[in-house]
Amino acid sequence: MVFAAGILVTLLAGVAHISASPILESRQSVTAVSTTVVTSYKRYTYYASAAYCKPAATLAWSCGANCDANTGFTAIASGGDGSSTQYWYVGYDSALQSVIVGFQGTEVSKILPVVTDLTFALKSLDSTLFPGLSISIKTHDGFGDAHAKSATAVLAAVKTGLSKYATTKVSVVGHSLGGAIAIISTGYLSLNLPSTTTIKTVTYGAPRVGNEAFVTWVNALSDMTRINNKKDIVPIVPGRSLGFTVTENELHINSDNVWESCPGADNTDTNCIVGAVPNIFSGNTSDHMGPYDGVTIGC
Ligand SMILES: *[C@@H]1O[C@H](CO)[C@@H](O)[C@H](O)[C@H]1NC(C)=O
Repeated sequence: MVFAAGILVTLLAGVAHISASPILESRQSVTAVSTTVVTSYKRYTYYASAAYCKPAATLAWSCGANCDANTGFTAIASGGDGSSTQYWYVGYDSALQSVIVGFQGTEVSKILPVVTDLTFALKSLDSTLFPGLSISIKTHDGFGDAHAKSATAVLAAVKTGLSKYATTKVSVVGHSLGGAIAIISTGYLSLNLPSTTTIKTVTYGAPRVGNEAFVTWVNALSDMTRINNKKDIVPIVPGRSLGFTVTENELHINSDNVWESCPGADNTDTNCIVGAVPNIFSGNTSDHMGPYDGVTIGC
């Protein structure tokens, strides 16, 4: 691994701050997750993985193993170009009776420069997309911008799905940058959909997305799950010293492939991501794509 000097400075600053601020640390007790619960996430994992497939493939739900694994899905819309706008798709899952929203992520070599770039900062969300939202609620502006690119098209497709399939359930998934977009999308959809809508958000290897005010807001809007694999580096950046924190309900796959439930934010138990990867030098970039219960993310 080769990191630019700026990245090292940022990360080291984060590490120094962590040890200086025990108040930010949380060490509530960690418990192993049952096989039933682990298995219940598999469908979401394939959805997050399918988001790496081209929009034409997800629209036809003919994208190879990821699409084949989730039968009972009917696509509504898809888009993005995989470069300036991450791929996304929206559809309906008849087994979960939920509208599904999937966002494409990135490889570790592409997301690390973004989450460690000193020119990015916490910024209030766009007031047109998030009308009336407090300006104290802030996200990494790179993630906010990435979300904004597909936001209105995704919302229109979700509205179509809720109406066409007479459901109130929406599930938003994504891996890596796609996880960051999924978390911001959770807030956006909640603001712009009927209050009867219930949202479930499942992310894989997602970075820290926003500040405490953002996380408190979005945690209350959704049934959140944040799945992290072994020694993946991405979930520990950007640093807490820069004002970032994480959404609740981390499930961490430890070195023995046991899924552990890590309560609180940034739980420092060694079976949770912050404990397993106390700094970037102890991380392993190979763990970013999984496998998550046997599923390696990608199309
Ligand atoms: C990094 O992770 C990969 C995949 O889990 C593993 O095969 C490899 O041994 C790990 N490397 C180190 C240095 O731990």
